[in-house]
Amino acid sequence: MKSPANSLLNFPGHRPRRMRRDDWSRRLMQENSVSANDLIYPVFLLEGQGKSEAVASMPGVNRLSLDLLIPVAQECVDLGIPVLALFPVIEASLKTPDGKEAFNPNGLIPTAVRELKTRFPNLGIMTDVALDPYTSHGQDGVLDEQGRILNDETTAILVKQAITQAEAGVDIVAPSDMMDGRIGKIREALEQKNLIHTRIMAYSAKYASAFYGPFRDAVGSAKNLGKADKKTYQMDCANGDEALREVALDISEGADMVMVKPGMPYLDIVRRVREKFDYPIYAYQVSGEYAMLKAAAQNGWLDHDAVMMESLLAFKRAGADGVLTYFALEAARLLKATK
Ligand code: PBG
Repeated sequence: MKSPANSLLNFPGHRPRRMRRDDWSRRLMQENSVSANDLIYPVFLLEGQGKSEAVASMPGVNRLSLDLLIPVAQECVDLGIPVLALFPVIEASLKTPDGKEAFNPNGLIPTAVRELKTRFPNLGIMTDVALDPYTSHGQDGVLDEQGRILNDETTAILVKQAITQAEAGVDIVAPSDMMDGRIGKIREALEQKNLIHTRIMAYSAKYASAFYGPFRDAVGSAKNLGKADKKTYQMDCANGDEALREVALDISEGADMVMVKPGMPYLDIVRRVREKFDYPIYAYQVSGEYAMLKAAAQNGWLDHDAVMMESLLAFKRAGADGVLTYFALEAARLLKATK
């Protein structure tokens, strides 16, 4: 629309810099903000005691045994981070083609969930529903003779895994496997067992992304996976409309929350999901995104704290209700210090 030269919509009638002039007026018109409430902290859990191993490709991230995770959980509570997300590092001897360790009620994850929920009843605990840490081939499902991932057979195992986690007391199960129909099957099984309070955060729009590399190092699935990829179940990075169909399916099957993953390169998807669905939406700032920012900051090429907070704010602006991020603890510490 063309406005007359002297209209208030034109310079000098309108000078946008007026509102940017002072800190108070910038604060007054700020549209989005980040708080500790927006953060979910993913952590890598090791078997054993007193064990801490640095993840080389994720500076500042350590795989921890449960006893060393306890103080981390305490800090999350103290800083107001609502949820801790657990990812297991499974010993090679427990990995099988069918990943059956995934539903061992005395396995690493259910044991940790029971302990954490006992100690921290008010800290949300989330667990990953997927087979890749447990399979000898590193895929998220079971394979047929040709090496193809079987959908319904995999889903049956995922249901057992989710129920095992829910029975251990987890608050949120988060299927990250991308099998078709798994949200509905998991919801049905939870209802049948009267586990009506277990929330489902569906990794709905999860892309076959190269940004997961450091995560696969962290959980030790990279060497099992080898040169294989996950393109027959994770989405094509070229697609946007398909993400909306995936989100619609997961909501109709009973998801409480949906997720877009990776995060920063997929903020267009976050925005589109936000505009179409009136549902809680989360984005995962994945391992490779974290690694990029950390590496540049370590080289002195970027200002660590500034890019960390800017990246988190961008998720909020795109429409996410929260962010899974390896920066959660550092960001929450900074937010507290600068309050
Ligand atoms: C496993 C899973 C992956 C991530 C979360 N859950 C890796 C994958 O799909 O290969 C990636 C998280 C990250 O990169 O930070 N299903």
